[in-house]
Amino acid sequence: MHIAMVSAECAPIAKAGGLGDFVQGLARELARVGERVEVILPAYDVLRFDALERPRPLGIELQVPFGGESIACPVLGLSLAGYECRLIAPRSAHGFFERGRIYGEPDDAERFAFFSRALVEYVSRPESRPDVLHCNDWQTGLVPVLLAERRTAIGRIPVCYSLHNVGYQGWVEAELLARVGLDAARLLTPERLADPGDPRRANLMKGGIAAADAVNTVSPRHAWEIRNTEQGMGLQPWFQRYGYKFGGILNGIDETVWNPLTDPLIPANFGPECLERKALDRHALRARLGLEEAADRPIIAIVSRLDRQKGVELIAHGIRYGLNAGAQIALLGSAIEPAIAERFAQLKSRLETNPHAHLELGYDESLAHLIYAGADLILIPSLYEPCGLTQLIAMRYGTVPIARRVGGLADTIRDANYSSAPFESRNGYLFDEPTTESLEGAMDRALGLWRDFPGYFSRLRLNGMLGDYSWRRPAREYLALYAYAREASGVGAS
Ligand code: ADP
Ligand code: GLC
Repeated sequence: MHIAMVSAECAPIAKAGGLGDFVQGLARELARVGERVEVILPAYDVLRFDALERPRPLGIELQVPFGGESIACPVLGLSLAGYECRLIAPRSAHGFFERGRIYGEPDDAERFAFFSRALVEYVSRPESRPDVLHCNDWQTGLVPVLLAERRTAIGRIPVCYSLHNVGYQGWVEAELLARVGLDAARLLTPERLADPGDPRRANLMKGGIAAADAVNTVSPRHAWEIRNTEQGMGLQPWFQRYGYKFGGILNGIDETVWNPLTDPLIPANFGPECLERKALDRHALRARLGLEEAADRPIIAIVSRLDRQKGVELIAHGIRYGLNAGAQIALLGSAIEPAIAERFAQLKSRLETNPHAHLELGYDESLAHLIYAGADLILIPSLYEPCGLTQLIAMRYGTVPIARRVGGLADTIRDANYSSAPFESRNGYLFDEPTTESLEGAMDRALGLWRDFPGYFSRLRLNGMLGDYSWRRPAREYLALYAYAREASGVGAS
């Protein structure tokens, strides 16, 4: 099957968070089992090629109609691990992808609406024409809408739509629909794109859900949450209405990227058979972050985008509480929202002279690897979490999660004390309420086991390391979803 995946991110060249890991991991696994995969991204100025080949022109130039202009977009290509990556590189278009970052611009909606329009031009061409198109998140929510409107002109391309973050739905002014050639008056109705909260605005994710052939989020638990609780962020009725084509598929992690036995970004490789070598990474982490060598203090890590979703208040509380309880803190956090960035900058300066805490503010892929390898515990107090990859990566590296029982965290972590799972599959600590008391309870249990029962704590690390978090199962589930989308769209299974 020829699968085109379209997204704002794909690691390692364009990653801001887990969406980048998702696209990379799934694309690589689908390619490994013999599918033809094309990943299509905007040609951002911040693409990171490092040791990879440089993209080359494919000899394709799209003419993308946008707000009365026709914008020429050459398409570039490069091969990543077994799959092809296509980069859409507009010649002009207001420097849409020359912003020094992937997201966070005031005109994000316009930038990604343009990208969606360009993408539809690309997949309509004979060089592409995928058997199925896999869209992700609000940035590409307009793609199924555009394809549905142009169906008679280009035939039917079945679409799967994966939701990684319902907190961002792509709320846009009606005028933007007209700019990409859509009939705004006809589409801006409660039945189609009108936002439930403000019907004068269009909601791209809502439109994408309605127009796609199959829709999923990235864990079964989160699928239930967004359909039945306020975590649907106003779209609960929409998920109920489209329940017949909606479900959850739990993510995996790319085990070639995240493998402590082979990871080139950590000083000492280790695995379940040689867990004692993790101490070398702990030592290196302390040296790198300027933390005191202290055999009697576990290291609690936080690796996070520091978005509200991640429970930033609970993270700040967990840092203070952990320090008071005799732990060390290693935080790596990237914030886009200025108020949150400021809050953590203040906390960092207050802790500047504390030899047991280091807050690294920014995005740093190689430091993230070292933290997973060197830490003992990782704190993930998310308010909501569609899947969460940091707990899976941490467990793979023998670092025990303390996390809130939501979404994919609840689906992947089995509590050391309060689980019905057999002891050998328990792998972390969960707490229910998004409150400091609830968080402290779980931290007390984790820190108590580390301090008083090191043998049991090592067993918990091992249980986590031995879990199967690979993309094999999820990739099979996506193939089934693609077949379902093809059947549902009338194109037929292939
Ligand atoms: P989300 O996609 O919501 O950010 P996930 O847990 O799914 O959450 O994935 C986060 C991914 O981004 C992981 O690969 C994690 O290591 C990485 N990450 C998050 N913040 C940073 C950061 N500040 N620096 C480096 N990597 C980060
Ligand atoms: C999102 C979610 C995260 C998920 C990731 C990949 O960014 O916040 O929970 O793991 O997408 O699907």
